[in-house]
Amino acid sequence: MDPNKGLTVLLAGASGDTGRRVLYLLARSDLDVRALTSDPGKVRRLERAGADEAIVGDLFDRADAERAVEGVNMILTAVGSDPREVLLADELVDGVGNRNLVESAADAGVEAIVMESSLGVDGDRASPMAQFFGLTIGPVLDAKAEAERAIRESGLRYTILRPGILTTLSATDDVQVGSAGTGLWGTISRADVARLLVAAPFTPDAEDRTLEVVRNPLLRGRSERIDWQHL
Ligand SMILES: NC(=O)c1ccc[n+]([C@@H]2O[C@H](COP(=O)([O-])OP(=O)(O)OC[C@H]3O[C@@H](n4cnc5c(N)ncnc54)[C@H](OP(=O)(O)O)[C@@H]3O)[C@@H](O)[C@H]2O)c1
Repeated sequence: MDPNKGLTVLLAGASGDTGRRVLYLLARSDLDVRALTSDPGKVRRLERAGADEAIVGDLFDRADAERAVEGVNMILTAVGSDPREVLLADELVDGVGNRNLVESAADAGVEAIVMESSLGVDGDRASPMAQFFGLTIGPVLDAKAEAERAIRESGLRYTILRPGILTTLSATDDVQVGSAGTGLWGTISRADVARLLVAAPFTPDAEDRTLEVVRNPLLRGRSERIDWQHL
């Protein structure tokens, strides 16, 4: 994909802690940005933050997902559940919501999708941290696994990023990356994850990959070298 070719990107979860950082980066690129929120009260804030268009849609609703993907070339999704709702909810936006998004995207001819997932998804318990995530947020990981499967089956070009524990520190540009199952562990700043989410659709090394991502200098020796194409 060529970032200079007037592409339109849908950012789902644009108001979230990672999403806001993604929007900041996209707003400074040549991409046209459509930001999605389920809360009408956040539209003005997203426009002020640089979205070319901010739309309201609930990803639990397939029709809203279909409307959101109309005319876009690629999707970045950083949606996630409110931790207070995880144990009581029948369905989570991490699963059903992302699946609605990817299935609508495939039907609409969208070219690429990048998803913020999590370490520990899909029975990947290679690291102590993944095991910890499995014990504490099991339902979220199951939901994310469902979305990851839908993405891999969609035929879209994809990158799935599985970060460790997210922080609010600044970007470092020094992150460790490995294929699913490498067993990386540690924290990573949302700012670093945002940089990777934006770069992924333009990075051949990340095409059709599921990647663990952390910031843990102790694991540099296990990290794969990826030539991220930052905008
Ligand atoms: N916290 C961690 O340590 C950790 C570790 C690994 C991975 N992760 C994952 O990383 C991702 C980002 O986390 P974060 O803390 O940066 O995000 P966040 O602040 O929790 O934001 C989540 C976003 O999801 C959107 N959303 C929720 N339900 C929606 C729905 N029904 N329709 C449309 N949008 C919806 C919300 O947007 P609106 O309110 O505007 O609708 C919100 O902006 C999540 O998937 C999380 O599970 C987190």
